[in-house]
Amino acid sequence: MVFQSQFTILISRDEIAKAVDRLACEIKRDYQDKQPLLISVLKGSFVFMADLIRQLDLPLDLDFIRLSSYGAARESAGKVRVVQGVKTPIKGRDVLVIEDIVDTGITVSFVLDYLKKKHPASLKLCTLTDKPSRRRVPVPIDYRGFTVPNRFIVGYGLDIDQRFRNLPDIYALED
Ligand code: IMP
Ligand code: MG
Repeated sequence: MVFQSQFTILISRDEIAKAVDRLACEIKRDYQDKQPLLISVLKGSFVFMADLIRQLDLPLDLDFIRLSSYGAARESAGKVRVVQGVKTPIKGRDVLVIEDIVDTGITVSFVLDYLKKKHPASLKLCTLTDKPSRRRVPVPIDYRGFTVPNRFIVGYGLDIDQRFRNLPDIYALED
């Protein structure tokens, strides 16, 4: 059982809001005159996606992809499976994948491979957080909110055993 007292604040809601603004500016600059398709990797990135799109005054489409989760474990089992695929046609679209965290990189590189096979016009990745110290598979990150230390984080969509997604700030679990 994890209690909230074992968390320390790592990224405040104000810092998150500033990062979302900055990322939205970068994305708007790169996608002007385009109509990107944003694909949120469920469940973790839905809070970030919801805030980000409201800063993007671009014509855009949304879809979601859901993968097999790690269950209650905190480690990637190394095997990823699509539970809910993308319904929107991908061929010829400018696709931007929205993630909450890139940890080992296994999940998002699977998503990028899955989408690449559907022949998008372009394929980029935006992640709110990046934990490079844990990387096992190289991942090209086009838009990065924060680089985080090698600690388990929760809040703003990120969970531990499905809890704490609703916290407005990001917390790190005490070692
Ligand atoms: P990866 O496949 O190891 O890169 O893991 C990516 C997924 O693991 C993320 O989309 C999260 O759902 C989960 N994850 C990895 N690290 C954390 C963390 O520190 N907090 C919450 N979830 C995490
Ligand atoms: Mg996730």
